[in-house]
Amino acid sequence: MAENDNKLINDESIESWNAVMLIYGSAIKEMGTKIEILNDEFKHVHQYNPIEYVKTRVKTPESIVKKLKRYGYEDTIQNMMEYCNDIAGVRIVCSFTSDIYRLADMIGRQSDITVIAVKDYIKNPKESGYKSYHMIVTVPIFLSDRVVETKVEIQIRTIAMDFWASLEHKIYYKFEGHAPEYISKDLQECSKIVSELDEKMLQLNEVIQEAKAEQE
Ligand code: GTP
Ligand code: MG
Repeated sequence: MAENDNKLINDESIESWNAVMLIYGSAIKEMGTKIEILNDEFKHVHQYNPIEYVKTRVKTPESIVKKLKRYGYEDTIQNMMEYCNDIAGVRIVCSFTSDIYRLADMIGRQSDITVIAVKDYIKNPKESGYKSYHMIVTVPIFLSDRVVETKVEIQIRTIAMDFWASLEHKIYYKFEGHAPEYISKDLQECSKIVSELDEKMLQLNEVIQEAKAEQE
């Protein structure tokens, strides 16, 4: 594709493109700080870190254009802000399933955050076996002359779910979305093992927490 075919990143709009990307980058910083504070507070109250790690990314122009095309929208900045919910993406990887819901709840209850949509692929896994808790939220970004409510996609999952998703992602790309049946079956099987593992680890952690509480 010639660069000028792409309305998002041609010369005329490069200025507004940069301005918009600055806002999404700021939204990720803002969310990152909020999550860090929640993790610290959680540690203070429950004596362990619920978050193993956080990954953030801003979607590339190529991916944004691809997504808009897939949805049948023209690749304009207006459309990308309106229809592309995952330009700013934050992935929170937790130790235990219970931490996922606690964190999601804490994020949702912050007074400056608006939850636009929630998809619970833990209670309702995808057919592939994919599990994660997804939230689309907006966070206010304070610029010199205005406040912009900016969308962020938050994915919250356990280490085991993350391990599964990254392998499945590699397989998906390797076979361009058409993995052989036996591989898809194996992945679904692994997804069940992930759930069992998460369940067992959670129970073990509860035993540890109870034992700790008795010592005090
Ligand atoms: P997208 O257009 O892909 O963003 O889908 P959507 O708008 O219907 O949202 P959904 O909540 O289904 O998925 C959003 C994101 O979750 C994806 O971009 C992936 O990062 C992740 N995801 C969803 N389904 C799968 C899956 O089956 N496997 C893996 N590895 N990741 C997935
Ligand atoms: Mg996506």
